[in-house]
Amino acid sequence: MATTFDVVVIGGGPGGYIAAIRAAQLGLQAACIDEWTDVDGKPALGGTRTNVGCIPSKALLQSSENYEHAAHAFAEHGIQVKGLALDLARMLARKDKVVRQNNEGIVYLFKKNKVAFFHGRGSFAGGGANGWQIKVTGRNEETLAAQHVIIATGSNPRPLPGVPFDDQLILDNAGALAIPEVPKRLGVIGAGVIGLEMGSVWRRLGAEVTMLEMLDTFLPVADESVAKEAWKVFTKDQGLNIVLGANIARVSGNKKGVSVEYATRGAEQKLECDRLIVCIGRLPNTEGLGAGTVALKLDPRGFVEVNAECRTNLPNVWAIGDVVRGPMLAHKAEEEGVAVAQRIAGQHGHVDFNTVPWVIYTAPEIAWVGKTEQQLKSEGVQYRSGQFPFMANGRARALGDTRGFVKFLADAATDRLLGVHIIGPMASELISEAVVAMEFRAAAEDVALICHAHPSLSEAMKEAALGVAKRSLNF
Ligand code: FAD
Ligand code: NAI
Repeated sequence: MATTFDVVVIGGGPGGYIAAIRAAQLGLQAACIDEWTDVDGKPALGGTRTNVGCIPSKALLQSSENYEHAAHAFAEHGIQVKGLALDLARMLARKDKVVRQNNEGIVYLFKKNKVAFFHGRGSFAGGGANGWQIKVTGRNEETLAAQHVIIATGSNPRPLPGVPFDDQLILDNAGALAIPEVPKRLGVIGAGVIGLEMGSVWRRLGAEVTMLEMLDTFLPVADESVAKEAWKVFTKDQGLNIVLGANIARVSGNKKGVSVEYATRGAEQKLECDRLIVCIGRLPNTEGLGAGTVALKLDPRGFVEVNAECRTNLPNVWAIGDVVRGPMLAHKAEEEGVAVAQRIAGQHGHVDFNTVPWVIYTAPEIAWVGKTEQQLKSEGVQYRSGQFPFMANGRARALGDTRGFVKFLADAATDRLLGVHIIGPMASELISEAVVAMEFRAAAEDVALICHAHPSLSEAMKEAALGVAKRSLNF
C-alpha cells in the first residue's frame, strides 16, 4: 500500500522545501522528495541554492572580500597587516560548513513542521485527476500516493556545445566554488551573474581573470547607467579583463590547462588559462521525472509549462522555481512555493513579478527592482529620475566605500515608483526598501517623506527619492 499524502513535492531546493513547509503549516499532509547527496552520501537538502549556489557563493564572496580588505583597504584605516597569508583550504572548509549548517537547518524545519522527507529521485509512475503515484528511487524504493504534486526540480548549468564539464579544468558553478588552489590565469565564459560573482572571488584571491562574453553589451539586464558604472569599476579599478562580443570557436584541454580560441569582430584570438569556468545560463531540470509517462507538457525550451498560478497541463500538478518560466532566483522560487501551497489549501496565492528584486553580489553590489530606464524609454513611458551618489553619503564615507549611486525612476504624471537601481555598498539590503515601496504602490515622494536614520546608507535612498522632484538636500 502506497503511503498517501495531500501534497508531494519533488525537489528540496528553496522552491520545494518552502512549499512543503507552507503546505504542512496549512494542515496538509506534506512530503518532499530530494535526491541531492553530499560527499559522505548523506542527504543534502536545499538544492542548488544551498549546495552549489547562493549560499556557498556568498560565503566565498565574503571571505575573499575580507582578504582583499586586509590586503588593500585596512591600511587607509590605519591598520597595518603584516604576514597576510591565504589559507584557501580553510576558506573552502568554512564555506562547506556554512552549507552543512543550512542543510541541517532544513532537516530541522521538516521535523518541526512534520514534513515527511524521502531521499531519492521522484518520478511520475501514473495517475490522474483522482491522484498521482510518485515512485521514489534511492536507497529505499517506494511509491507515494499524492492528491497534489508540486514539481520543483530546479535547473542545471548549460555547457558550451561540445564542451562537457570535467570538474578539473572546465568547471560549472559547483567546480567554480571548489577550486583547490588559486589559478594563476582563470578564464570565464559568460559575463553574467555567476561570471561576475565567481570572477570577483578568484580575482580577489589573486587570479588573473579574463571573461569572454558573447554579447556586445555589458550586463544588458541592468539599468544602463548601473552597467556603465559597474564596467568602469570592474575593469578599470579591479582589473577584471572582460572581452565583449567574443565568439567562442574551440575549447581544448591540455597538460598546461585550457586553450580557448575565439573571435572578436572577425579577428581570431586565443586565451590560455589554467582553469575555465563556463557560466552561460542554466537549463530547466526535468531529467528522470517521468514527464513522458503522464504527458506533462514542457515548452520548447524544456521548461515545465505553467499558467500564472503555476498550474501545469495536468490536474493537481503544479510547478515552481527554476524549472518554470521567469527569473532563476531563489526568492522567486520560494514565493511561488508559498503561493502554490496556499492555492492547494484553498487560499489566495500572491506573487508579483514586477517587484522581484535582483542582486549581484559583487563589490560594489548591484541591486534593482522594477523597470530600467531603457525599458521605460522603449515602452514610451514618461518618467522622472532622481540619482544620489554614495560619495555624498556620510556613512559611505565613514565606511570608506563611496562607489556608485542610487537611482529612482518615477512616473512623470503620478510620481508612482517604476524602478529603483543601486550600485554601491549593501545594495542587497537597501533594495528591500524599494521593494516594499513598490509593493505598496508608493510614489517617490512617499519615500522622500520618510525619516531615515542618520548616518546610514539608506539616506541615499531618501535623497534619490527627493532627487525625483529635484530637491535632494545633500547633493
Ligand atoms: P533547485 O535549488 O535547483 O533545487 C532543485 C532540487 O531538486 C535539487 O536538490 C535537485 O537535486 C532536486 N531534484 C531534481 N530532480 C529531482 C527528482 N526527480 N527527484 C528528486 N529530487 C530532484 N539566486 C538568488 O536568488 N540569489 C543568489 O545569490 C543566487 N546565487 C546563485 C549562485 C550560483 C552559483 C547559482 C548556480 C545559482 C544562484 N542563484 C541565486 C539561483 C538559485 O540557486 C536558484 O534560482 C534556486 O536554487 C532555484 O530553486 P529551485 O527550488 O527551483 O531549484
Ligand atoms: P546569466 O544569464 O546571468 O549570464 C550568462 C552570460 O553568458 C550572458 O551574459 C550571456 O550573454 C553569456 N553567454 C551565453 N552564451 C555564451 C557563449 N556561447 N559565449 C559567451 N558568452 C555567452 O547566467 P549565469 O551567470 O550562468 O547564471 C545563471 C542564473 O543563475 C542567473 O541568470 C541567475 O538567475 C542565477 N544566479 C543568480 C545570482 C544572484 O541572484 N546573485 C547569482 C548567480 C546566479
